[in-house]
Amino acid sequence: MIQMFHVYKSYTSRHRALSDINLKIDKGEFVFIIGPSGAGKSTLLKLMFGAEQPTRGQIIVNGMDIGRGKGSDIPLLRRRAGFVFQDFKLINHQTVYENVALALEVIGLNKKTIRKKVYQALKHVGLLNRMNAVPLVLSGGEQQRVAIARAIVNDPMILFADEPTGNLDQDITKEIIRLFKIISSWGTAVVIATHNRSLLSYHPTKLIALKKGIVQGVFVSSYKDSDTYIPQ
Ligand SMILES: Nc1ncnc2c1ncn2[C@@H]1O[C@H](COP(=O)(O)OP(=O)(O)O)[C@@H](O)[C@H]1O
Ligand SMILES: [Mg+2]
Repeated sequence: MIQMFHVYKSYTSRHRALSDINLKIDKGEFVFIIGPSGAGKSTLLKLMFGAEQPTRGQIIVNGMDIGRGKGSDIPLLRRRAGFVFQDFKLINHQTVYENVALALEVIGLNKKTIRKKVYQALKHVGLLNRMNAVPLVLSGGEQQRVAIARAIVNDPMILFADEPTGNLDQDITKEIIRLFKIISSWGTAVVIATHNRSLLSYHPTKLIALKKGIVQGVFVSSYKDSDTYIPQ
């Protein structure tokens, strides 16, 4: 689904944010990118999402080359990918429903289809009952669940999350990671970047350890967490 071949990224001529990245992420994988602050985690996610261009190397997402000069494939890619941020990035003067619906309105779906998809996404994250609330009356964990609903509403092939639990306490972190894991069990690849090593207790299928822009190791788990599988 995602492949990177000898990918380099420099923002400035003197410093490399990423060096010689080679990796592969498959359908339904539950991946952690782990490493200290400044390791290049956010840069790696942005490259996979097409939000930054590599300085060198090749990035293939679902058969599309999104490397240098191939910008035309990126809007298509974005429609098949979701992104969740540490600070939620919700629109505070709009309701939960409107926040989630927005992603579908911009691609021109009809009202009825939008309503069906938004209800489904809010149901998955357990927030149908808060549909008409504005984000600021919700807890941090609830706001992040709205952001996740927004990210999955268009059935993405891949979901990226950059420090998604950075602003949340331990109990809520558990809830949010569990939700990501359920989403991956439906076939969406979930890629979570974090500096928080304690998240490793949630058993990613693949762990990519980054330090100073270099992959220190890729660890693949054989652990099967059948408890988290909930049929749709
Ligand atoms: N837009 C940018 N312009 C210049 N340097 C950047 C930019 N974004 C990130 N960097 C640098 O790239 C390196 C990796 O950053 P980042 O990907 O944000 O790491 P992480 O997410 O692991 O903390 C850091 O040295 C950072 O300062
Ligand atoms: Mg970061």
